[in-house]
Amino acid sequence: MKLLDNYGRLLKDVRISVTPRCNLHCLYCHPMGLEMRDPPGTVSVEDVGHFLEAAALLGLSAVRFTGGEPLVRKELPQMIERARLTEGIEDVAITTNGLLFARRAKELVSAGLSRVNISIDAITPEVFRALTRGGEVGRVWEAIETALELGLHPVKLNAVVIRGMNELEAVPLARLTLDRPLHMRFIEYMHLDNSDPEEYKRRFVPGRETRARIEEVFGPLEPVPHDPSSPARVYRIPGALGTVGFINPVTEPFCASCSRLRLTSDKKLRPCLLTDLEMDIAWAFGAENPVEALVDAILIATNRKPAFGNTLPTLRERVMVGIGG
Ligand code: GTP
Ligand code: 5AD
Repeated sequence: MKLLDNYGRLLKDVRISVTPRCNLHCLYCHPMGLEMRDPPGTVSVEDVGHFLEAAALLGLSAVRFTGGEPLVRKELPQMIERARLTEGIEDVAITTNGLLFARRAKELVSAGLSRVNISIDAITPEVFRALTRGGEVGRVWEAIETALELGLHPVKLNAVVIRGMNELEAVPLARLTLDRPLHMRFIEYMHLDNSDPEEYKRRFVPGRETRARIEEVFGPLEPVPHDPSSPARVYRIPGALGTVGFINPVTEPFCASCSRLRLTSDKKLRPCLLTDLEMDIAWAFGAENPVEALVDAILIATNRKPAFGNTLPTLRERVMVGIGG
């Protein structure tokens, strides 16, 4: 079975946000003062199992658990295990800030985790602390080393680039790829909250500027073939073990090859990251035959997947931390 949307795009990936909570409050993602607990009705292990069964019946084959921060959810290993046991689901990944990863990694790998993407917006401790409002970059380093030791290849790293905050970190972050099989990706800052649009424009750094900054030091980057369903364009510093990629949702939107469907932790299907269109599908999880009902819900959401998202969104009903990137 292959699931195509109204524009002929093949849906392959589900992103499940398992909690709106996060143990960091990054400036670009998470306003202060959000919920400290998962509200009643948050997706359970059973719900994740039913959802993935339905998704796999429709031909979706990859799942990524996000948050908030997925590792603050204590049931994450059980969710990974359910994913691993679902026939048709071949890739089970998480996107994490890494803070809790080193101490839980073995448990996650035994449950069936195949891949991890770790956010690291800066290497300089003070810059990291300022951007994440208090995070310790040393803990992220432990996470990266643990992921490499456990052979969770490819280990991808994410940095959102923000002018006046971390744009000068691009060179030291790119340098990490020289002697380690790390896949560093620089992400264009998206305007996903109600903050002042003029301030957003001042903070925005186009991916080509970050690339130029890296090439000034390391010379021209060599293109590397990459998975067309991943949003990153991938390159290599000549001779490097790892790669440097650019995720440019603002200047080079990748909607035409979008293969993703998102489930939020409060049971809404979100067909597009950048469009405030969500379908409440709590009814399907509570149906007598949830898998059958979820198949219907996914088909309806797929039909409503927009052709192109608004690449400069302003008014957001839900902030990024609640969608999971
Ligand atoms: P891989 O398949 O491992 O490459 O995963 P990924 O890059 O899709 O996942 P990740 O969670 O690491 O996301 C990296 C960045 O891409 C984040 O900043 C996301 O917000 C952004 N991103 C992911 N999916 C979309 C999307 O559908 N639209 C837009 N505009 N950005 C996205
Ligand atoms: N713009 C771009 N990327 C963002 N992320 C969170 N907020 C934003 C934003 N406003 C990224 C995180 C993480 C992924 C899950 O989403 O850095 O890598």
